[in-house]
Amino acid sequence: MEAGRVLAQILWLFLVVPALIVFGAEAFTGTYGINYGRLADNIPSPDKVVKLLKASKIKNVRIFDSDQSVLEAFSGSGLELTIAVNNGLVKEMSSNEGQAVKWVKENVESYQYSNIVGVAVGNEVLGGDQELSAALLGAVKNIYAALQKAQLSDKVMVSTAHSQAVFNNSFPPSSCVFAENVVQYMKPLLDFFASIGSPFCLNAYPFLAFMYNPGKIDINYALFEKTTNIFDPKTGLYYDNLLDAQIDAAYSALANSGYKKMEVIVTETGWASRGDANEAAANLTNARTFNYNLRKRLAKKKGTPLRPKIPLKAYIFAMFNENQKTGPTSERNFGLFKADGSIAYDIGYKGLKSSSADSSLKLFKDLRYRSGYGSYLLTFMMCTLSSLLFLTR
Ligand SMILES: *[C@@H]1O[C@H](CO)[C@@H](O)[C@H](O)[C@H]1NC(C)=O
Ligand SMILES: *[C@@H]1O[C@H](CO)[C@@H](O)[C@H](O)[C@H]1NC(C)=O
Repeated sequence: MEAGRVLAQILWLFLVVPALIVFGAEAFTGTYGINYGRLADNIPSPDKVVKLLKASKIKNVRIFDSDQSVLEAFSGSGLELTIAVNNGLVKEMSSNEGQAVKWVKENVESYQYSNIVGVAVGNEVLGGDQELSAALLGAVKNIYAALQKAQLSDKVMVSTAHSQAVFNNSFPPSSCVFAENVVQYMKPLLDFFASIGSPFCLNAYPFLAFMYNPGKIDINYALFEKTTNIFDPKTGLYYDNLLDAQIDAAYSALANSGYKKMEVIVTETGWASRGDANEAAANLTNARTFNYNLRKRLAKKKGTPLRPKIPLKAYIFAMFNENQKTGPTSERNFGLFKADGSIAYDIGYKGLKSSSADSSLKLFKDLRYRSGYGSYLLTFMMCTLSSLLFLTR
């Protein structure tokens, strides 16, 4: 191990870890969160997951459905949970107000001790199927109205996460705009979210941008390592990492359509630790470097170059490797934890060494699933489109 790395780890121990502990109690409720996807038949039961999250001091958690066993396990845990109306339910929630009321009653009101702080309506809908895109706003409004009716709209934030397929990027970040085919759905959605104070939720993967633009992006830029900074001539700002550039592109698209005040939060980002032969960047070293540096980046509670005063908040994708996901091998290897609950690679979590891997691992057959990240093709298209954003020279 080279000297620089050792020094960095020492600095991490002395500077960052104490900072996490100091802020851990209250104000930390938001810069570092995690996605808890469950498309796996070999991961720990939800109550063990709650213990794991508490041991790793991760407070903010997103799930991709509203699974009852998870909601029960989170009850009284103090963790902050965002649940989801999955894509399969969006049309029904949109066309049928009563169904939205029923959904909120059964999945939010019934779990008043589960500390549900958010409902994500659909995942990566815009930029994909037109009918679903057309239904999204109605579903969002009906869920919000149902929460209002239950007097929960002040406590539970309604949002929807977007993939980068919603953008039509060009270099530099400041000139990013929404893609033409999503503008008609995006504008009214943003009007509504602006009126209820919801942020813009972005799923941003430097990993994908790097992989699909071979030879064009410096790996160090994608991994928050030392690199040649990227200059945005319009704003005069420099970028030392790809994630910040992706977020500022989103801020720019919002500002360019008149939503200058809306906050961007990252609802998914991560790096796969294993991949197929054509996914060479998906390896343990890169995954560890990305997640280690990302954790440091978030612990600083700094904004991006374009929005320096808004501390960056991100949910890591994901908690576990998920063996039942389809697609390329990388898809099943985004976990910070292995299926048995042991850490996949060390990024400086305290209190987590090996697992409590007793054999009572519960089988999860419930595949009321997350329906978003599968839109691999769209993400691919977007990454290609946006490649110019990330060219290093
Ligand atoms: C992106 O912008 C260019 C230039 O304005 C336009 O020709 C193209 O159709 C746009 N693509 C999308 C997907 O919006
Ligand atoms: C991981 O991939 C990087 C290139 O992205 C390469 O430099 C490195 O050697 C790889 N590490 C391992 C352990 O394969």
